[in-house]
Amino acid sequence: MSAPVPKMEFARPTAPPPPFQPQDKDTGERESAASARFSLKGKVAIVTGGSGGLGLEASRALLEHGVAVIVILDVNAIVGEAVAEILRKNYPTGTATFVAADVTNAEAVTTAVNAMVMLWGGVDILVAFAGVVKCEDALDMSQAAWKRVLGVNLTGSFICAQAVAKAMETGGRGGSIVLTASISGHAANFPQPQVNYNVSKAGVLMMVKSLAAEWGRYGIRVNSISPGYMNTVLNEGDGLNDHRKIWIERTPLGRIGGIDELNGAVILLCSDAGKFITGTDIKVDGGISALV
Ligand SMILES: NC(=O)c1ccc[n+]([C@@H]2O[C@H](COP(=O)([O-])OP(=O)(O)OC[C@H]3O[C@@H](n4cnc5c(N)ncnc54)[C@H](O)[C@@H]3O)[C@@H](O)[C@H]2O)c1
Repeated sequence: MSAPVPKMEFARPTAPPPPFQPQDKDTGERESAASARFSLKGKVAIVTGGSGGLGLEASRALLEHGVAVIVILDVNAIVGEAVAEILRKNYPTGTATFVAADVTNAEAVTTAVNAMVMLWGGVDILVAFAGVVKCEDALDMSQAAWKRVLGVNLTGSFICAQAVAKAMETGGRGGSIVLTASISGHAANFPQPQVNYNVSKAGVLMMVKSLAAEWGRYGIRVNSISPGYMNTVLNEGDGLNDHRKIWIERTPLGRIGGIDELNGAVILLCSDAGKFITGTDIKVDGGISALV
């Protein structure tokens, strides 16, 4: 009787690697390696949804890590201009500008990206935060409500990723694209009904894998961050008091996330510290998604 699994023969066509030689590093080398790992010195970045809570904090972090130019792209022009002004005042070594544009408008997004290439020689980083949510029962949800949330969160993320990736591919120096998914893309939220939002974020998770698979050859990395419940306008208001209580009870760390608590993941994914990370998602959610 033949064995169920045939015996495998492994060829060894190349010579084995040389024996591992541990290298010593002096203190100076160790310190400069540590800061270089998370440095974004001289990079050109675009942050969509940068007029919002999470986008503003991520923009601050990008500048703190050395980004030379940051472009905030958002539909909210009043707040967007104010955000750019704050960034210019707080980080005078960087250049911060605002572009009023809708992420669902491919022409407007492409114009903004092309202007960045003209003015600053390329784009190295996209962090895409633009997003909307509206809780509604699926039985009552209009097609307009379905399309709007899918349009901004999913199609808008694709439009921005595509425009930036074209510039990165032409520039020939690669880059990092970070999209914002959500714990809502991994499991249905409780207790709020929001099928359109959940589906849009699940789509972002698959988009990240697909784009990473296609664009790795150009040195373009594509990843996402999945926030849990964060302390922004999306989760504000007395009407959500009962919801917030439930969310906190189900979060192992026992609280809502601060608006700056995505920054570590953003910098990791944008910097050399993450240079072998692509096609993946980082949950920053206080552990809520660890529970069933
Ligand atoms: N706050 C949370 O708890 C949480 C949790 C998971 C995921 N997220 C995601 O994080 C991202 C940022 O959320 P936030 O909490 O900072 O919300 P926010 O409302 O403060 O920010 C969202 C920003 O996107 C902008 N925007 C909306 N539609 C746009 C469009 N069509 N074109 C350009 N800009 C547009 C808004 O003007 C706003 O400035 C969103 O994608 C959201 O889904 C948030």
